[in-house]
Amino acid sequence: MSPVNIPVLDLKPQYEQIKDEIQAAINRVLESGRFIMGPDVKLFEQEVADYLGVKHAIGVNSGTDALVIGLRAVGIGEGDEVITTPFSFFATAESISNVGATPVFADIDPNSFNIDPKEIRSKITSRTKAIMPVHLYGQPAAMAQIMEIAQEHGLKVIEDCAQSFGARYWGTCSSCDGRCQESTRESLRGKFTGTIGDVGAFSFFPSKNLGAYGDGGLVATNDDQVAEMARMLRVHGAKKKYHNEMLGYNSRLDTLQAAILRVKLPYIDQWNEGRRRVAQAYNDLLADVPGIITPELSKGHVFHQYTIRVLEGKRDKVKESLGEQGIGSMVYYPVPQDQLPVYQGQYPKLPMSDLLGTEVLSLPIWPELEKYTIDSIVKVIKQLLVVDK
Ligand SMILES: Cc1ncc(COP(=O)(O)O)c(C=O)c1O
Repeated sequence: MSPVNIPVLDLKPQYEQIKDEIQAAINRVLESGRFIMGPDVKLFEQEVADYLGVKHAIGVNSGTDALVIGLRAVGIGEGDEVITTPFSFFATAESISNVGATPVFADIDPNSFNIDPKEIRSKITSRTKAIMPVHLYGQPAAMAQIMEIAQEHGLKVIEDCAQSFGARYWGTCSSCDGRCQESTRESLRGKFTGTIGDVGAFSFFPSKNLGAYGDGGLVATNDDQVAEMARMLRVHGAKKKYHNEMLGYNSRLDTLQAAILRVKLPYIDQWNEGRRRVAQAYNDLLADVPGIITPELSKGHVFHQYTIRVLEGKRDKVKESLGEQGIGSMVYYPVPQDQLPVYQGQYPKLPMSDLLGTEVLSLPIWPELEKYTIDSIVKVIKQLLVVDK
């Protein structure tokens, strides 16, 4: 087979669709000269709040800052423990460490790749103050159980929604062991990720489902006090200019990015639906391939990544074969957060996240990815695994 060129992500087809609107939005900001906290920031915040059905949406400089500001806004700091997943991008644990708290890692469920509620229970101590679930790859975490554990123990919940903009929780968690109440599931059914816990932290990094053309992030909350604190923290800890009350950050959402995101927001459901179509096509084509576990197509999943498990130690071989044919793929994440050099020696290995780090492979996905391209990607995988068998 002759090499093709299929990147792991192509943002150009999306740009082509909305080019005129984007350029008009950028020009409007340039003409206004209001680059810092211009009108588009407030308008975007209101539009996101309306979309998510949440009381407050506060634009910040990145998803990482949204996590840090979210943690501080709910009062997490020195001496506190925050239970989180080992299987995420380092910004998750880093935010906890950066506010002076200690990340405590609870192992994951192999079907959803998300934190396993059973494991959370076993990690709770007198110092535990919060849980930070991550809706990894766009798949909502088991929020009914997580919220029940939080309520039982008086814990805050900060949702890392960097990969899950537009994902809804429907109460069908693969890691469910039946311990949550039907009434809890019912009360959360259909809610957007990021609107269930005390705080939702979103990223608008360009590759995200709702991506800016630079860095950007957002804190979502229904709590007036948390919102007020987050608004202060993003502008150096001041409610009133030059009357700083606490140490904060310079973490405003850039006006140009807000204007770009306002153009993109009305398309998000359509784009997420496109991602689900791609995931369905992959799942159908890969269903009978030996040695592969395809992801669940659960309701509400927005497939920021389409991630398979490649068993029997063949993941790197598959990645290499795809690469030889000019097809991009990525490993998110080869080293669980708890085993990164920054925390070396501090945490014992967690068996499931350790194993999945050797098996996961994310294949190309974007909303407009064509069926014939998916066919050619699957063909390479089949050639290797079906022949190899
Ligand atoms: C799970 C997760 N959390 C947090 C972040 C941090 O977001 P940002 O890059 O906008 O700071 C990312 C971004 O890659 C992420 O994937």
